[in-house]
Amino acid sequence: MHHTVLDAAFVQDPYPLYARLRREAPVSRAVTATGLSVWLVTRYEDARAALADPRLSKDARRIREVLEIRGGVRVLDESIIEHMLNSDQPDHTRLRRLVGKAFTARRVEALRPRIEEISAGLLDGINPDSEIDLLTAYAFPLPITVICALLGIPDADHDAFRSWSNTIVTNSEPEEFERAQSGLVAYLVQLIDRKRREPGEDMLSALVAARDDGDQLSERELLAMVFLLLVAGHETTVNLIANGVLALLRHPDQMARLRADLGLLPSAVEEFLRYESPVNMATFRVTAEPVRIGEVEIPAEEVVLVSLGSANRDGDRYGDPDQLVIDRGLGGHLAFGHGIHYCLGAPLARLEAEIAFRDLLTRFGRIELAPGRELRWRDSQLMRGLVELPVRLTPAE
Ligand code: HEM
Repeated sequence: MHHTVLDAAFVQDPYPLYARLRREAPVSRAVTATGLSVWLVTRYEDARAALADPRLSKDARRIREVLEIRGGVRVLDESIIEHMLNSDQPDHTRLRRLVGKAFTARRVEALRPRIEEISAGLLDGINPDSEIDLLTAYAFPLPITVICALLGIPDADHDAFRSWSNTIVTNSEPEEFERAQSGLVAYLVQLIDRKRREPGEDMLSALVAARDDGDQLSERELLAMVFLLLVAGHETTVNLIANGVLALLRHPDQMARLRADLGLLPSAVEEFLRYESPVNMATFRVTAEPVRIGEVEIPAEEVVLVSLGSANRDGDRYGDPDQLVIDRGLGGHLAFGHGIHYCLGAPLARLEAEIAFRDLLTRFGRIELAPGRELRWRDSQLMRGLVELPVRLTPAE
């Protein structure tokens, strides 16, 4: 039996290992960088089935129990784990319903002018004809400004968030991790308090009201919900934008096609999601009972990592899977997950990405990688994102 180690070299380039596993051991044992023993699911069909299988649980308490048995992983603080992504039905339905309406395609479309304004403001601040880190200057601040505006979080607090959240999702030192986590929790507690005293027109105020008006949401669930929305809202879309730009830089013919026909944008965004999936492996579950996936019987109380990054490069599903082809057509990929936990923020992420790529391509006639700089991926098992994206921009004529 294989015992694959998901180490630092794997993080820099996971695709060769994924390809081998899909061929030789599509459901196999693996050990993460933090020493956790897991089952890794790598084929598209298996991944899709696993994501929708209720025997693979996301229940916070069950996950905690299993992780304690397996050891070798940092478990998030009790106060921030009881959110929809860590729950099974019926809690999941109740929690998701509380914010579901705010994220429908129609409600999100109404945010377009606001997002366009934020994007334009950021691009106005970039000095063209210079070398910049596109992550810091644009890909990061765009989604965080949008999600903070939605939730009602002051602009001044964004940088503190970036640092806490980065520490939590990467393989940081234990003390650093604890510090980031307690900093973030203390901040959120104080923010909820402030919204309770001075409610605004924002989503956080609405959630506090939902909490206080009835028994739909406990105080802990409220805190966890805000944590989830913030982290999900800004650790992911930043990577969709930056990974997409990098993919275009590495496929100049596709960049030229997109420039020539911006009508391809929606389909190109889906292809960026497939090609370099921002959430590479975060989709983990625990088996509530023995579950057969493909040819393999996984016992109860095991951790199962469903690799979206691998599923989306499965040659049985996609022709030429390692090529970026911006007009493959819409949908089908698993970058937003599948089943009841399908990404709540998908319409928002798509809209932000469309605006971002349209603005970048129309403002800058040329985008090139800055020469002589080595690109590195963040040391994370959860997210696939660059440490920085140094580029040279040339304004459009
Ligand atoms: C769930 C990916 C942006 C909020 C998920 C899941 C994936 C995902 C894969 C399912 C995880 C699982 O089943 O284990 C992404 C990607 C994004 C993105 C690739 C950007 C490109 C956002 C944004 C928000 C958001 C902008 C909004 C705040 C959520 C929430 C869930 C979720 C709340 C949990 C849904 C549930 O449990 O029912 N996302 N996400 N995401 N996402 Fe996103």
